[in-house]
Amino acid sequence: MSRMVVLISGTGRNLEAIIEAQRTGHIRGTIDAVICNNPDAAGLQHAQAAGIPVRLVNHRDFANRNSFDAALSAAIDQHDPDFVALAGFMRILGSEFVQRYRGKLLNIHPSLLPRYPGLNTHARALADRQDWHGASIHFVTEAVDGGPVILQGRVPVHGEDTEATLAERVMREVELRIYPLALDWACTGRLAMQGDKVLLDGKSLARPVQLEDVTKEQSHG
Ligand code: GRF
Repeated sequence: MSRMVVLISGTGRNLEAIIEAQRTGHIRGTIDAVICNNPDAAGLQHAQAAGIPVRLVNHRDFANRNSFDAALSAAIDQHDPDFVALAGFMRILGSEFVQRYRGKLLNIHPSLLPRYPGLNTHARALADRQDWHGASIHFVTEAVDGGPVILQGRVPVHGEDTEATLAERVMREVELRIYPLALDWACTGRLAMQGDKVLLDGKSLARPVQLEDVTKEQSHG
């Protein structure tokens, strides 16, 4: 069975969904450790409650990014995972780190990439009066939030939305669904990165899979 390590920094709602999906057999792999850079992260409680080993690598203990990345790699490598899932992990990783885990490193980003890489995605979507917003799962490459996108899901933006209401809709309707799905694809050997392309079931994706298409397929059996 494929083994995963999940990296978090904060609230851990994505982690909670990943743990639940794994527990109920919707992710056919194991979560061998949760690694966190923030000792105060509320998300740590989800790992502890599930009995998953937690390791803290506090970025404040390191003089620079390289030494933090090296400590993070050492913590990850103790578990020899097949995949490393960044789930609200709020540190930018250096290129050596990214290359070391190339094809094994997944991230969730709260926007319809390639739109809005970086921070404050919900506020930016609102300011641009977008009709749709969402979240994406992508392979991590050196370009921040720029790696090949695997799966994304969208929600409508409402006229009365605030940053908070939009963020909550994206989280509830998209984020909590797409990460478990993509991690199950990864753990069951369906997913790979080749060059800058995503391979799903051996076929190169011309564009990211859309959550609504997966949902339709599932309801048709
Ligand atoms: C999520 O919106 C994720 O997409 C972003 O940071 C947030 C983390 O939330 N990268 P949580 O820690 O999973 O609750």
